[in-house]
Amino acid sequence: MTVQERIEELRNKIDYHSYRYYVLDDPEISDAEFDALMRELEQLEREHPELITPDSPTQRVGTAPAAEFEAVTHSVPMLSLANAMDETDVIEFENRIKRRIGGQRIEYVVEPKLDGLAVELIYEHGIITIGSTRGDGVTGENITQNLKTIRSIPLRLRNGNDIAIPPVLAVRGEVIMLKKDFERLNQERLDAGETLFANPRNAAAGSVRQLDPRITAQRKLDFFCYGIADATGLPVATHTDVLAMLRAFGFKVNEFTKCSSIDEVLTACRQLEDRRPELPYEIDGAVIKVNSISLQKELGTISRSPRWAIAYKFKPQQATTIVNDIIVQVGRTGALTPVAVLKPVRLAGVEIQRATLHNQDEIDRKDIRIGDTVLIQRAGDVIPEIVKVIEHKRTGHERKFIMPTLCPVCGGRVVRPHGEAVSRCTNSRCPAKLKESIRHFASRRAMDIEGLGDKLIDQLVDRGLVRDVADLYNLTLQQLMELERMGEKSAQNILSSIEKSKKAGLERLLYALGIRHVGERTAHLLVHNFKSIDNILKATRDDLLKVNEIGPEVSESIFRFFSDEENRRLLDRLRAAGVVCTPAESIPVETPLSGKTFVFTGTLHSMTRSEAEKKVISLGGKISGSVSKNTDYVVAGEDPGSKYDKAQKLGIPILSEKEFLKLIGS
Ligand code: IVH
Repeated sequence: MTVQERIEELRNKIDYHSYRYYVLDDPEISDAEFDALMRELEQLEREHPELITPDSPTQRVGTAPAAEFEAVTHSVPMLSLANAMDETDVIEFENRIKRRIGGQRIEYVVEPKLDGLAVELIYEHGIITIGSTRGDGVTGENITQNLKTIRSIPLRLRNGNDIAIPPVLAVRGEVIMLKKDFERLNQERLDAGETLFANPRNAAAGSVRQLDPRITAQRKLDFFCYGIADATGLPVATHTDVLAMLRAFGFKVNEFTKCSSIDEVLTACRQLEDRRPELPYEIDGAVIKVNSISLQKELGTISRSPRWAIAYKFKPQQATTIVNDIIVQVGRTGALTPVAVLKPVRLAGVEIQRATLHNQDEIDRKDIRIGDTVLIQRAGDVIPEIVKVIEHKRTGHERKFIMPTLCPVCGGRVVRPHGEAVSRCTNSRCPAKLKESIRHFASRRAMDIEGLGDKLIDQLVDRGLVRDVADLYNLTLQQLMELERMGEKSAQNILSSIEKSKKAGLERLLYALGIRHVGERTAHLLVHNFKSIDNILKATRDDLLKVNEIGPEVSESIFRFFSDEENRRLLDRLRAAGVVCTPAESIPVETPLSGKTFVFTGTLHSMTRSEAEKKVISLGGKISGSVSKNTDYVVAGEDPGSKYDKAQKLGIPILSEKEFLKLIGS
């Protein structure tokens, strides 16, 4: 096989496995196997740069920042949708259609209205050439480099179902951030003392409109398509044909419901609204579309909106309540975050008692005072935020909040560096910082020290038993047993989970250290690129910058961390205590899960769905989104869905959460 042939073979394999992972959510190989394919391709392309093509999977990341975005004129304008605010508006929508086309039967499609950023992708002979924002509908911005970093956007179309790939195809859809990725991103930003995104929509839009594609590449974005600019000449008669074609070309297409009457449409809208809280992404409504493309053409458009489609808006997930107090929390980096203590209120099925206020600027911008009546909403899944103050409810007794100048925990001096939004405690020994850093170190995704909870951390720090994370490894049974509410058995358990954490591996350790800007992804990149802690310690700013996806700010932060004498000593002590500083072996030899396919349904209590899925994959198993005869186990959490019934019907073993935990040995 020639080098060129091997390169092409690798690209096909990588494209296929990316598609399984990012589009179908049904991987067939482990991350480590995938990484190995990618490394081989990178190596060959380094040796033969003349063979690099723009659609190679290596070309998703790493171009230099742009000074500005170029304008792109859409060949067919990107329309917007008229809104239906209630069910009467939907019935009126159908009446208008009937008046134009007479009494013929109309088939509709109901889809989720994703709340993200509308984009268009142009494929020429199956290869992506331009990706742009909607802009004003006529002209948008060229953000091709950024869109290419999104793994669920194919760089070349798949040749599914033998549909001929047209010379030019303009695909339209929505770039979104899943709720879980939004929460993770905001948590990381909070840890790093950065300003937070108000909701997944802003996070997606802000990420995709970055001038530096390396930043976009670090954000977990997703793309769902919902249409094409022009169906002329394509073998499609209906909107659902278009969706099926797009699916065959390798895109993620959202679920939809075909309806043969407006009553069915209304039912589908109501059902979607009911399921809104459990969907993995934010939706703000349902889109109702006439299915037949010839009918769509006949109906045409009016003032920039099609007559054949409408957006049915859902009730906002908002409520009003009172700000009883504003308190200040001190984070791991010393950042002081003001938090509103609310009069408890129920919102989308959850009792809300607190809302983050982010920082002083945010409070000032919204003019939020203690005693105010406020409108709150849930952004993403959990973090509630204050949308605005209901000013006419003011009594004159409200109090303004002023950021303290001394740390509420240690009394240390608080500074707000010029040009930054965040105030920080300057005391490097502030116990709040220390407690937060231990909490992070011990967290499930970091060193995973089970049983080391907040109360215990408080006691360990307050009694001076732990002054940094390395001290955890010197704790004795005696010391633990002297703490409040600690029997010999629990103390033993904690010591053994501390012992177990020594083998977490370098990747988790780097993440656990809480280096500013180093989340799990960057920790992975560091290990992947430098292989050992000693190489990381030796790396210069430039060495770090050479890593795709690591920008100047991140490299500076990593470099500084490892140049600091105190941090180096900490690492030495961790090593001396037996904490393993080499990469963890990612594929276990043979486990009860090897090669088995798992499907999850319902809510798990001991971990999130994504943690459970990662665990399965790390133990050699596979994940699938739907139950079929190829499924080996269905794991049923609380309130399982239709997958449960299907598994029963097919006689597939159904595991409870407890049984699943036993199987994975935790
Ligand atoms: S169809 C002419 N389908 O909603 C058809 N749009 O105002 C226009 N959107 O910015 C688009 N989910 O990005 C369509 N399933 C869906 C959608 C959807 C979200 C967005 C779209 C546009 C806005 C329409």
